Amino acid sequence: MRKKILAANWKMNLTHTEAESYLQSFLTEIGEVNDVEVVVLPPFTAIPASVSASEKMPALRIGAQNMHWAKSGAFTGEVSATMLRALYVKYVILGHSERRTLFGETDEIVNRKVRAALDAGLRPIFCVGETLHERDSNQVEQVLGRQIRQGLDGVSQKDFTEIVVAYEPCWAIGTGRTATPAQAEQAHAFIRSVLAGITDGPTAEKVRIQYGGSVKPDNAEELMRQKNIDGALIGGASLDPRSFAQIIRCAEAALI
Ligand code: PGA
Repeated sequence: MRKKILAANWKMNLTHTEAESYLQSFLTEIGEVNDVEVVVLPPFTAIPASVSASEKMPALRIGAQNMHWAKSGAFTGEVSATMLRALYVKYVILGHSERRTLFGETDEIVNRKVRAALDAGLRPIFCVGETLHERDSNQVEQVLGRQIRQGLDGVSQKDFTEIVVAYEPCWAIGTGRTATPAQAEQAHAFIRSVLAGITDGPTAEKVRIQYGGSVKPDNAEELMRQKNIDGALIGGASLDPRSFAQIIRCAEAALI
């Protein structure tokens, strides 16, 4: 059984003091969580405050939204995996479509980051997804296949299960337009088959694949009921602690 993983991608929102009050409200709202894993991914500046607040909830992990692939050096403005590990960060989002489109990250760059994260003991939340144009021109499988093969090139067999894949169709991110559960399930099953091709069937069965793109309390449960959907990466709706907590409840309800 793959443990579902619900992750809040705050993007460039919340100062460290806002993060503290968010997490206080969230912990009060959510109470105990046993059957799913919860990750909060604040901006770098709010990581230390979030790590301290997370100590009150064993199921809660803190992640980062990006990192550089080098261990250290002359890379002005960048942060390394080693620096994140030193703050007790467990996860890092890599290959998010905003990084790919707004900051020019290629599959090759994403691959360097994935390998550096794994080497440092960080778990990548590795994002893939097609644009609307690619979907409309029937290129979904071709695009996902390329992003996965190139993004995970050189990853060792034992590291595969450390990776969480996030399927985020670009046309569903921040648009209010969600993939239907059937569309998402089809893409997730395809992603798992690509993973099986580059590792093996049993390993691919263990990899968790999150769905992301306009996940909200009113669509989360049905998405979470799909066979190959193992959680969600939530942007907009995660900025409200109450709606993030509701989405987690939906994921727990989907287990029954
Ligand atoms: P959204 O963002 O939930 O606001 O669509 C998801 C993401 O970009 O990770």
